[in-house]
Parts: sequence; structure tokens; C-alpha cells
Amino acid sequence: MPVPPLRVAVLISGRGSNLQALISAQRSGELAIDIVVVASNRAAAEGLRHAEAAGIATITLDPGCMPDRARYDAELFARIAAFSPDLIVLAGFMRVLDAAVLAPWAGRIINVHPSLLPKYPGLHTHRRALEAGDPIHGASVHFVGAELDAGPLLARTEIALEPGDSAETLAARLLPREHALLCRCVQWIAQGRVQLRGSTVHFDGTALSEPLRV
Ligand code: GRF
Repeated sequence: MPVPPLRVAVLISGRGSNLQALISAQRSGELAIDIVVVASNRAAAEGLRHAEAAGIATITLDPGCMPDRARYDAELFARIAAFSPDLIVLAGFMRVLDAAVLAPWAGRIINVHPSLLPKYPGLHTHRRALEAGDPIHGASVHFVGAELDAGPLLARTEIALEPGDSAETLAARLLPREHALLCRCVQWIAQGRVQLRGSTVHFDGTALSEPLRV
């Protein structure tokens, strides 16, 4: 019997280039997923326009409409859950989520972050890598925990810093690699090759001692 495609919800706050990469990979047949909903905390998020253009349902929920973060997160996740996703992807979603809403999604929610985590959680990752004189920078995909940009790592992609690099050139060089990384991770999950057991990521049945490389 054919396996139904993985139902994916994507959360964004801005540009949505990672979302667009998922949409394009789905369209080209590279990725057997069904993006069932795209949710954002910002009505102006450009990524919402990508979703609309692709005919994907959208949710916009303004944090200003809710009395506190816990209730905002509960409402957002209740609306997302109504679409019965198998996987939630945080793709440039610029909010820390409440532990209470994350708990039921343990092992089913991932984030893409532009640094070689655990280095540089938070913002300005490219500038921080340059300032530290790191020879290597990159992006990571991890399962989401209650802390910012932390949780068991699934995979990462690395790029070498080059003389004369600025935060902008580094970001531009990394972004396509980040897109490929996210698409590959979602593909592995859709293929049933990835499981989170406790805080250990398993790939093809074997515990990962370090993140996979893409
Ligand atoms: C990406 O670099 C992602 O890793 C980070 O925020 C950025 C979002 O980019 N969390 P986009 O909205 O997918 O273009």
C-alpha cells in the first residue's frame, strides 16, 4: 500500500526562503510531503505570500492579541493541530515556544538555525562566527526543546569562511546550503529514517553520536 505523504506544518516570521525551498522540492517531486498549513506571528511575513501562491492554508496570529506568551502559544498550536500535521518545521520562526505546547510534539518538531549549534544560538550568527575568527561556519537542524535554538541535533552543513567575508557574503553563501539541509532532513523524516528516543536522535535505527552532514 502506498504510504501517504508526511503532513507538514511550517512556522515562519519573515522572508520564508526555507519554506519556499520546501515548496519547490515538493513540487519537483524531490520531497514526498504535503505542506498542510503555514503559520506566522506576523501578517506581513513575506513567506505567507509564498504559501498563498502555492495554495497552502495559512494561519496568522498576532501575539499582541493574546494576554501572554503561554496563551498565545497554546492558541497557535491548537490551530496548527487542527491540520493534523505529522511534523512541525520552524523555518525562521522568531519566537521561543512555551515548554507546555512543545511537550506533545516531542520528536515531531524541528528547527533550522544558521550556525553550527551549539555555537551561536539566537541572532547575528554570521557576524558572531566572523568575529570569533571561526574557520568553519554552517547551519543546523535540530529537534526543538524549550530553550532557544537548542535540542538534539539531527544534521548540519558546513562552509569555510573566506578572506574578505562579511556577514552578508557568508549569509548569501550559506542560505542555499541551509535550504538543502532542511529539505534533506524533512525527506529523511518523511522516509521514516529518523526517530528521537529520549534526547538521542536515531538514524536508520542507529543512535547518532554526532549530527549527520549534508
Ligand atoms: C534562516 O537563516 C533560518 O535558519 C533562521 O532564520 C532564517 C530565516 O530565513 N532561523 P527564511 O525566512 O527561511 O528566508
